[in-house]
Amino acid sequence: MKPKTPSESRTIMTDMVLPSETNPLNNLFGGELLARMDRAASISARRHSRRITVTASVNHVAFNRAVPLGSVVTVEAAVSRAFKTSMEVFIDVWIEDRYTGERTKANEAIYTFVAVDDTGKPTEVPELQPETALEKERFDAALRRKQLSLVLAKKMKPSDATELKALFKED
Ligand SMILES: CC(C)(COP(=O)(O)OP(=O)(O)OC[C@H]1O[C@@H](n2cnc3c(N)ncnc32)[C@H](O)[C@@H]1OP(=O)(O)O)[C@@H](O)C(=O)NCCC(=O)NCCS
Repeated sequence: MKPKTPSESRTIMTDMVLPSETNPLNNLFGGELLARMDRAASISARRHSRRITVTASVNHVAFNRAVPLGSVVTVEAAVSRAFKTSMEVFIDVWIEDRYTGERTKANEAIYTFVAVDDTGKPTEVPELQPETALEKERFDAALRRKQLSLVLAKKMKPSDATELKALFKED
């Protein structure tokens, strides 16, 4: 399979925050943002693999900034690394200033998707070829995050998590 770049899976979804999507502080409800991110990330994983994709895990979510009612929110997702059948997808969330149009980063998240066939069996995906410095940085750290996710899910023994162990190794 021909390798693909992150820009080939980049998915950008822009929408407003409506009253039915807010919490009692009139900010975007966290679950609504998780759903928007899942949707964009799922399209991104599908664009990379051209297969049915399912969410296998949500590895990291940081709700760094509240997103007020009426905000214009842009969710930007792209595959950051592909393994055998799974893909890590990085999601950046931006809000736009009403007057200047300037974008501010509000949140980010990292999801893992698995490509499956019609029977739900995991199936192979193309490799990812990072291009920019940020894409390379995300690519390099993805194996560590995969191992951490598998250890937490009890699908990998901590002793087999080579990339994680390397973090704690003193020279
Ligand atoms: C995701 C799913 C296909 C994985 O099936 P599985 O039997 O565990 O398959 P495998 O053990 O072969 O794992 C497949 C890949 O997923 C990865 N994976 C599985 N669980 C993972 C986790 N918690 N974190 C990161 N990666 C994970 C494996 O490392 C493997 O990746 P690789 O082939 O790239 O090395 C299966 O658990 C499933 O269908 N889950 C339900 C998904 C779903 O419905 N999501 C929506 C929730 S509402």
